[in-house]
Amino acid sequence: MGPETQDLVTGRLEASGTDPVSLTRISWLREARFGLFIHWGLYSMPARHEWVKSRERLPDEHYNRYFEHFNPDLFNPAAWAEEASNAGMKYVVITTKHHEGFCLWDSALTDYKATNTPAGRDLLREIIEAFRRAGLRVGLYNSLIDWHHPEFPIDEFHPQRDEPGARKERDMRKYSSYLHGQVRELLSSYGPIDYLFFDFSYPDRAYGGKGRDAWRSEDLLDLVRELQPTTIVNDRLDLPDADVRTPEQYQPVSPMSVRGVPVFWEACQTMNGSWGYDRDNLDWKPADLLVRMLIDGVSKGGNLLLNVGPTARGELEPRAVSLLRSIGVWTHPHGRAIYGTGPSQLEPPSDCRYTQRGDKLYLSVFAWPFRHLHLPGLADRVDYAQMLHDGSEVPMSVIDSGQAAQNTTMGALDPGTLTLEMPIRRPEVLVPVIELFLRPETASI
Ligand code: GLC
Repeated sequence: MGPETQDLVTGRLEASGTDPVSLTRISWLREARFGLFIHWGLYSMPARHEWVKSRERLPDEHYNRYFEHFNPDLFNPAAWAEEASNAGMKYVVITTKHHEGFCLWDSALTDYKATNTPAGRDLLREIIEAFRRAGLRVGLYNSLIDWHHPEFPIDEFHPQRDEPGARKERDMRKYSSYLHGQVRELLSSYGPIDYLFFDFSYPDRAYGGKGRDAWRSEDLLDLVRELQPTTIVNDRLDLPDADVRTPEQYQPVSPMSVRGVPVFWEACQTMNGSWGYDRDNLDWKPADLLVRMLIDGVSKGGNLLLNVGPTARGELEPRAVSLLRSIGVWTHPHGRAIYGTGPSQLEPPSDCRYTQRGDKLYLSVFAWPFRHLHLPGLADRVDYAQMLHDGSEVPMSVIDSGQAAQNTTMGALDPGTLTLEMPIRRPEVLVPVIELFLRPETASI
């Protein structure tokens, strides 16, 4: 049995590729399980999705109005960090530059940056410092795509794709030097960066597709490893290996593997389908769904990176704050079921998920059952069971599997089933969780 499989069996850790250096690098991220994604840039002003420049084919002359008026006077990253921390998040990933090309930091390589807007300062530095002060790890999102740089070749996503006068010959080498130079800046000027989230490659697109050759991804990764060897790097550079896979806006159906090798992953998810602030969007996910997504991911060995799109004034909008706070009310007593846990090899009953850390098994109940929960394979393996939110005992019994059903007597249970007696009323928490104390000697069987 290899170390990956061993991890799955004990429920301590899920597998994560074969590279031991990568395993060490990601150990904090796997423990953390829950992070905040922040998409913030000029697109918060049109307030209709961060792809607005491409979707509406907005020319620079139009888009410049946002650069000239960007003035987030209510910006207070300490408040963002406090909301994230209270929601139970352990790390942040912030957009340093999105596809529009606008930089939140004081890059020496461009004028297209926050310092030259009415904001007049390096906003990234303030964000990084605020989150570090709140005790969160810091990751940086960096867009490989750049719809502002004059040498970024026009392709099917580019806002100028249909513009007759647009200069078609562009020098990708010049752009990739700029990209590498900016990554060097980010890794040299802001202390230890825990995570780099590059976004994204599309080598197979017919018109102007871009991947590892365009970005010079191998060299870029070498640069990152040379400057900060412990920085986690995601899987969007179009290279075969990565520290973390990043499924976007979907939940994997099972623990992820690539070419047959189990890998570590993190799902990035929006609250409403848009990453940037999207004023008129009504697709808000309810808080209980977001909590179920968190649990579901951890039960399959993955993290949840949940996004907010701050407004042009620099605040988290009330709908996002309210969701973060509801989630925090849940994580406060239920963190034991999340942090440092991973998948279990046990099969949960329907509408439930298991997460496990050593001899603690957590049963998250997505749909409240009537009176009993039957747990296959757990008879004689559990010392004690309690509701996690209030520590109240959950009575257990092992029903004789040979007995016939009669009146109030249950029958036809599989041998080895443990039965929990549930309260009739579902506890008033977003997702109820039962904590099962496994007998240590049977925990990894
Ligand atoms: C995408 C989108 C983007 C968003 C990102 C988050 O690839 O292009 O707008 O930032 O995913 O993962």
